[in-house]
Amino acid sequence: MIKNAEPLIGLGLESSCDETSASIVKNGSIILSNRIFSQIELHREFSGVVPEIASRSHLETINTLIDSALEEAGIEFSNLDYVAATNRPGLIGSLMIGLQSAKTISFTLGIPLIAVNHLEAHLYAPFLEGENLQYPFMGLLISGGNTALYRVNGPGEMELIGKTADDAVGEAFDKISKYLGLGYPGGPVIEELARKAVEKKNFFPRLMTDPGDNRFSYSGLKTAVINHIKNNPEADTAEIVYSFQESALELLVRRLFSSARELGIKRLVVAGGVAANGRLRELLNENRRGDEKIIIPSPLLCTDNAAMICGIAYQYYINNKFSPLNSDVHSRIKN
Ligand code: KG4
Repeated sequence: MIKNAEPLIGLGLESSCDETSASIVKNGSIILSNRIFSQIELHREFSGVVPEIASRSHLETINTLIDSALEEAGIEFSNLDYVAATNRPGLIGSLMIGLQSAKTISFTLGIPLIAVNHLEAHLYAPFLEGENLQYPFMGLLISGGNTALYRVNGPGEMELIGKTADDAVGEAFDKISKYLGLGYPGGPVIEELARKAVEKKNFFPRLMTDPGDNRFSYSGLKTAVINHIKNNPEADTAEIVYSFQESALELLVRRLFSSARELGIKRLVVAGGVAANGRLRELLNENRRGDEKIIIPSPLLCTDNAAMICGIAYQYYINNKFSPLNSDVHSRIKN
């Protein structure tokens, strides 16, 4: 361990997709600042993220965000003990902006660089809000780009239990929303509209019910919804999205609990943009058994942010796991 008596202060950078963020975290658990610039407005007219626009925007905003994160935390560059940035998975041009900035800071200040797996960082988010970090736990990661279930055994030790065979769950929300002309991102709009459904019935097929099948799949549901709309042009939109949401969320809840029970794990972390969904939170609580603990970050920490990057990097720091200055970016991870 490099240093243990004084608090450890890190700077985290996030630029994997359409949020640029810089954050200062103390001892891997206390957020001193968490500056986030969302590019949603820049991508809205395209109903999805445009990679070239994303990387240009990261480049334009990252220095200002770093300065304001330091200022809000009341510290200087010279107070930093390490710098961390997402290097996988994500859009290559976007990842490069954050990682290159972190490398420059690491080299200039002579402090360690820690390149972070974005998915692992999402699952760390609740441990920045007072939850005690205790391994192992189940980690269900649900966002616009990923739908995956892990058994998390320690820092850097994520065992893949199941992932989507096609679309990510957030992508399904976004595509249905786009088809119905409801706007982008689809998740929050669909959640709100579903609440207004008068008839709360689920008329879409139940997904992948074979015992022992740990995969997720959303392209079949998306097609079923689109066909239903084509065949029933008069159908009530709120009732359609209600039914879609129930099917989409039911699969997540069923897979999470069945795998956790099979593996005998009682701590269940649910993270990523879709974890902000209130109906999902209800379903998780309804299906929870007495000794199971559901751990979900607050909505702000469900979406992409650099505090979670800086937080998980602290776990690497105290285990002397650093990254070389020639670390690369990766659009995908092996699992
Ligand atoms: O983790 P995230 O911010 O970033 C990326 O994956 O890039 O997740 C964004 C995704 C989008 O697909 C969005 O539609 C979905 O999370 N999302 C939601 C909700 N809020 C955001 N999905 C369902 N219900 C929500 N309330």
